[in-house]
Amino acid sequence: MDSSRISGFYKLPPEERLKLAAERAGLGQEEVSWLKTGLLLEQADKMVENVIGMIQVPLGVATNFQIDGREVLIPMATEEPSVIAAASNGARMARPGGGFQTSSSGPVMRAQIQATGVSDPFAARQNILLHKDELMAAANEKDPMLVRYGGGVKDIEVYVIDSRVGPMVVAHLIVDCRDAMGANAVNTMAEALAPRIEQLTGGRVFLRIISNLADLRLARARAVFRADEIGGSEVVDGMIQAAALAEVDPYRAATHNKGIMNGITAVVLATGNDTRAVEAGAHSYAAIKGRYQSLTRYEKNRDGDLVGSIELPAAVGLVGGATRVHPTAKAAVKMLGVKSADDLSRIMAAVGLCQNFAALRALATEGIQRGHMSLHAKNIAVQAGASCDLIEMVAARMAAERRISVDRAQEIISELQKS
Ligand code: MEV
Repeated sequence: MDSSRISGFYKLPPEERLKLAAERAGLGQEEVSWLKTGLLLEQADKMVENVIGMIQVPLGVATNFQIDGREVLIPMATEEPSVIAAASNGARMARPGGGFQTSSSGPVMRAQIQATGVSDPFAARQNILLHKDELMAAANEKDPMLVRYGGGVKDIEVYVIDSRVGPMVVAHLIVDCRDAMGANAVNTMAEALAPRIEQLTGGRVFLRIISNLADLRLARARAVFRADEIGGSEVVDGMIQAAALAEVDPYRAATHNKGIMNGITAVVLATGNDTRAVEAGAHSYAAIKGRYQSLTRYEKNRDGDLVGSIELPAAVGLVGGATRVHPTAKAAVKMLGVKSADDLSRIMAAVGLCQNFAALRALATEGIQRGHMSLHAKNIAVQAGASCDLIEMVAARMAAERRISVDRAQEIISELQKS
């Protein structure tokens, strides 16, 4: 793609935006038609049980992203106004500093197998480790395709954990899931090994399931935001102050991380991935040091610029699940131009950092409500009963007056209807 910078994109009608985004991202007629049609009821009926309809969420495109030197348009599915605008704005401010640089630890997940009622848990732990090769081979036999692609079980770790109901021996299968999110692969392996774990420990296995604390599947991103680009040194200092509170105060960290997930979840949803898995991973990782903390860090470099960084688990896939079935998700993956699940996870990290940067910058300057509420004004106009031809007018009046409420919208609607 030449550039993800498309000035005035937000002013275009949706069909024009689609045309332009499709051109830039190299989408073909097929993907464009998938985006227009979306999921059909008969397709939905094959995805989950007892289908009776669909709840639709807007899909937008964040512009301006430069990630590892590549120009990327980011498809984002969200019901929250201002998320996509904030991401685009943040990405624009990252460009003079070279955009986002990302890395990852690779697509590795854990499955847990819990043996209970073990009389000699430490000896049992060693017995599992003694039979590690045999266990790994048995697990890999369950997914020869994954092994062919270079994935499969790479290691086994065993923990003795004290609990309210006595000690437990918990084996972790460490599985490289390649381009799969991996829940199906690792759960099948864990279930297959359970009887042998019972033999080796003399205990009884209950749980055999993936851990969503995907601390071996970390995605990272960093960016330099030039001080002169973001409002000067006072803004840099204000943002560092705001971020510092999120490092030490869980009340602030929860909101700070919610803002990060505004961006990440929107990409996860747009690409048909499991939003709950990624959110569970992010929040549990935020608490991994024993206290819930922010997932990003902000520092000032020697030039006085703001340097932001993020690290979080990102368990997403490109094969299996809705990603390969849902037409909108297939088009979103094509738009991102990602070749692997790992690529996707790194883009998500960049979007999370960018979203957080945009929120912190607004919080350290004018606050979020003006931008948020002027975008929200259209929703309020609809809630107040504005007909299609009045929505824009009512929203614009409320935004100009800085009085955005259902009551005010109703007053403006009656004035407009009278005139
Ligand atoms: C709102 O959806 C997200 C923010 O609250 C995030 C933050 O406070 O950092 C603006």
